Amino acid sequence: MISEASRPYIDASVPVLREHGPTITKRFYADMLGTHPQLTRLFNMGNQAQGVQQQSLAAAVFAYAANIGNPEALGPVVKRIVHKHVSVGLRAEHYPIVGHHLLKAIAETLGDAATAPLMDAWKEAYGSLARLLIAAEAELYGTAGIQPGETRPLRVTETKQESANVLSIRMVADDDRPLPPFQPGQYVSVAVDLPGGRHQLRQYSLSDAPGTGSLRISVKREDASAAAPAGEVSNWLHANVAVGSVLQVSHPFGEFTPDTESDQPLVLLSAGIGITPMVATLHRIARVRPQRRVLFAHAARDRAHHALGAEVDALRATMPNLSVVNFYEDAAGADGVLEGRMDVARLPSWAREETDVYLCGPGKFMQAQWLALLHAGVPAARLHREVFGPELLDHLL
Ligand SMILES: Cc1cc2nc3c(=O)[nH]c(=O)nc-3n(C[C@H](O)[C@H](O)[C@H](O)COP(=O)(O)OP(=O)(O)OC[C@H]3O[C@@H](n4cnc5c(N)ncnc54)[C@H](O)[C@@H]3O)c2cc1C
Ligand code: HEM
Repeated sequence: MISEASRPYIDASVPVLREHGPTITKRFYADMLGTHPQLTRLFNMGNQAQGVQQQSLAAAVFAYAANIGNPEALGPVVKRIVHKHVSVGLRAEHYPIVGHHLLKAIAETLGDAATAPLMDAWKEAYGSLARLLIAAEAELYGTAGIQPGETRPLRVTETKQESANVLSIRMVADDDRPLPPFQPGQYVSVAVDLPGGRHQLRQYSLSDAPGTGSLRISVKREDASAAAPAGEVSNWLHANVAVGSVLQVSHPFGEFTPDTESDQPLVLLSAGIGITPMVATLHRIARVRPQRRVLFAHAARDRAHHALGAEVDALRATMPNLSVVNFYEDAAGADGVLEGRMDVARLPSWAREETDVYLCGPGKFMQAQWLALLHAGVPAARLHREVFGPELLDHLL
């Protein structure tokens, strides 16, 4: 919460800062990473190259300011940030560094308009948000029983090509400690040392249920296109990981966790590599609630690009109330699938008001399904989503 004295300055400057948001954060990152190059270890430089992380942090700070006094709007956003921060090993001492460079970038962008009372108000707002995040992150580290930045060596016991461009990697502990517990839907950060000595972290959802004595991730290789270079870490993993490799992996985190233990019907909708948290969820339900009514719908480009589909099909044998619907954009030669993109109207009907719907897939898929589901009568409170990149927070602004 910020003081009454600061509030008018924040209220008056939010629209201006929002307009300059991308400029401010581009400046902020260039300045901060130039002064503290060791922080590039923490940041996803692929996101930096595309500018999405800049938008995300800017949006978070301005969303916070715009919603001061409205904690309901911010609660879920803060939870997501906290889980992401903890999975990359953020420490309390990082906050003053970010605060210093962010305020400097705001002052430089606003020029003469950056008066002392205005800058004091932003210092206070940043400080208040930082304290909230630091406390929540300390609590999450405590619950997980780990130190910030701690990773574990995990040994690869199996690799499996699941589709034209998805590789599953199964890992066990490479030390004496048991594997950490996790909930289906959660992800780990995998740390790799790239050629040239660069260290990078990426998140991968766990694609099998807990309790197997191993952790499995399924990684889509991001190929180069005319517009963009090949993804660094996914290609590195595909090219370098083999049975016996040891990877440095974080504790599992994430708040996209469908309730697997309940008897209530559930709808899981995914596209492309967004199938990973859904498969983990389905495996757990198959083990603890095999009678549960579950609609599992997935969209893939074609059969060759449909990862983990055979595993989902196999669960039909033990889950009598599981409906599986697959959409292929190119269905040539594939039986039992619907041609085209996922279309809510072509799915078996469910009790819209009472059923939780979980979504994971590329941005365009998420946007299209989110709108279609609202239109079909699913209340927003029943919709849950995971974005495989920084979540954009424009909806709060
Ligand atoms: C919570 C969460 C869960 C996830 N779960 C999974 C999972 O289960 N499986 C999975 O495969 N992935 C998952 N991801 C995504 C994963 O973390 C990585 O983002 C993904 O593997 C790509 O990383 P990369 O290093 O290969 O690509 P990067 O090098 O980070 O590049 C990412 C994209 O940006 C483009 N790009 C890079 N530089 C530029 C540039 N200069 N201009 C334009 N475009 C550029 C690349 O072409 C690529 O498409 C998850 C992400 C999150 C946040
Ligand atoms: C009040 C301060 C901060 C706010 C509001 C904030 C906000 C955010 C947001 C919105 C995300 C994206 C979350 C998602 O959707 O996945 C994020 C991720 C991240 N933040 Fe922060 N952050 C703050 C402070 C910091 C600090 C102090 C650091 C450390 C230097 C930091 C490092 C990171 C990193 C490394 C990621 C993941 C980036 C990626 O993978 O691209 N943040 N933060």
